Amino acid sequence: MSAPDLDERPRRTFAVISHPDAGKSTLTEALALHASVISEAGAVHGKAGRRGTVSDWMEMERARGISITSAALQFSYGGHVVNLVDTPGHSDFSEDTYRVLSAVDSAVMLVDAAKGLEPQTMKLFKVCTLRGIPVITVINKWDRPGLEALELMDLIEQQIGLKPTPLTWPVGESGDFRGVLDRRDGGFIAYTRTAGGATRAPERRMDPAEALASEGEAWSRAEEEHELLSADDADHDPEAFLAGRSTPVLFGSALLNFGVARILDELLTVAPGPGPTTAVDGSVRRPDDEFSAFVFKVQSGMNAAHRDRLAYARVCSGVFERGMVVTHARTGRPFATKYAQTVMGRERTSVETALPGDIVGLVNAAALRPGDTIYAGPAVDYPPIATFAPEHFATASNVETGRSKQFRKGIEQLDQEGAIQVLRSDVRGDANPVLAAVGPMQFEVVQARMQAEFGVPIRLETLSYSLARVTDAAGAEMLAGTSGAEVLSRSDGTRLAVFADKWRMASVLRQHPDLHLEPLPAGV
Ligand code: G4P
Repeated sequence: MSAPDLDERPRRTFAVISHPDAGKSTLTEALALHASVISEAGAVHGKAGRRGTVSDWMEMERARGISITSAALQFSYGGHVVNLVDTPGHSDFSEDTYRVLSAVDSAVMLVDAAKGLEPQTMKLFKVCTLRGIPVITVINKWDRPGLEALELMDLIEQQIGLKPTPLTWPVGESGDFRGVLDRRDGGFIAYTRTAGGATRAPERRMDPAEALASEGEAWSRAEEEHELLSADDADHDPEAFLAGRSTPVLFGSALLNFGVARILDELLTVAPGPGPTTAVDGSVRRPDDEFSAFVFKVQSGMNAAHRDRLAYARVCSGVFERGMVVTHARTGRPFATKYAQTVMGRERTSVETALPGDIVGLVNAAALRPGDTIYAGPAVDYPPIATFAPEHFATASNVETGRSKQFRKGIEQLDQEGAIQVLRSDVRGDANPVLAAVGPMQFEVVQARMQAEFGVPIRLETLSYSLARVTDAAGAEMLAGTSGAEVLSRSDGTRLAVFADKWRMASVLRQHPDLHLEPLPAGV
């Protein structure tokens, strides 16, 4: 720990998972208001017209008002450095979300009090379970009429199977938010509205007697429900939380800034900091071992003035110092980190140092792909990030002959970024690669980016496949010439057998009982 400007405060690295419109952008802004922002890496708020949106590099994103890009916001709070990693909001980007969630140590699941657990929340929650990420639940929009608090607890337990252990309990039903009962000490935290929620909402602590005098029936009901919860063992249990069996619950209103500071406080007290990372060979790097990091996101075309490629890496161990030369595990080649940066709005600033949990943007990192490891000292290679089974397929072709070089370059780059899976076969040739996506919106992104960043209009023709399985060279031979099925290769060499549907796959298997097929993880 030699760097002069090394900020050694403990880290918390988390993401907010929610269904679109649950209030993620509002909460992100509210968190930033309560803390002091240190740096912002790329996209944070993905809402059309919202101030502070730095991810407006793509017209489509603005038009749709969704967040497609992902990066991190770093802030200072309570003697800690907090890294909030942004997750894409749209369900078509689950593969991207999966990668992003590989970079966090905990997640905040934001639930709309009126809507309960919505589909995208459930999907993202499933990713957290797969990755063993502990989840803190925040019931948002309590200032608006919605479901009853106990009903919401039942929904959480039944639909996601986690025991909800509220840390705070609302005083006043949804739509009449007066404050919360602090379940740790039984006291009342009263909230006061400020104009438009633009400043930190003042909080006043009262003991139970004062709370009863002030809130009457609403307080008595909160106390009663608090006792019911305790009788049901719904008290925070650190071990069950870290093991993914329970979820602490907080109530708030991101819009009014109610309960936002408490979310930050709980992140510092109950959420885990960076822990050891297990490598492919089973060995473990601890945070204080020599430097290592893994790339969870590669992105280009972020800014018209900077047409280069940024690889976002999460530091797993050791100290990152800009300028250090590390080893790229996949190629064994040295990699110079002279251009480590964060993106502040549209301005880029250099990152000088970073610690485990921090996110570093590496500029012009042409060799780096999602899932790659970089390290100093003894060799380490972290497991690759799973790619999901694509369910949508289309051939891409270049509309303007004469731009075939740009076409090839663009398709290759989007493949390397993981924006889409690019599949090829000798039969089809290089000019008409097959694009494979987990969600169809990925195609629109590719089309828009090919035009905007490479000046190549492309034509997409949908293929009638919907199912992919990993196969081998023998499988490729068996399926040659079969209708409704085909074998295509990914750039990493994996062969995918694609089928029109499960019926077609079953009939092909009947014809070729020796055909080797392995499932890929399903998109969530
Ligand atoms: P998202 O990023 O999860 O998609 O949601 P976002 O923050 O954009 O919030 C979606 C809508 O919900 C916004 O209203 C926002 O103002 C509102 N909202 C967020 N948190 C709260 C809350 O705690 N209480 C209440 N009452 N509303 C909340 P909108 O009208 O769709 O957008 P805007 O025009 O206000 O930005």
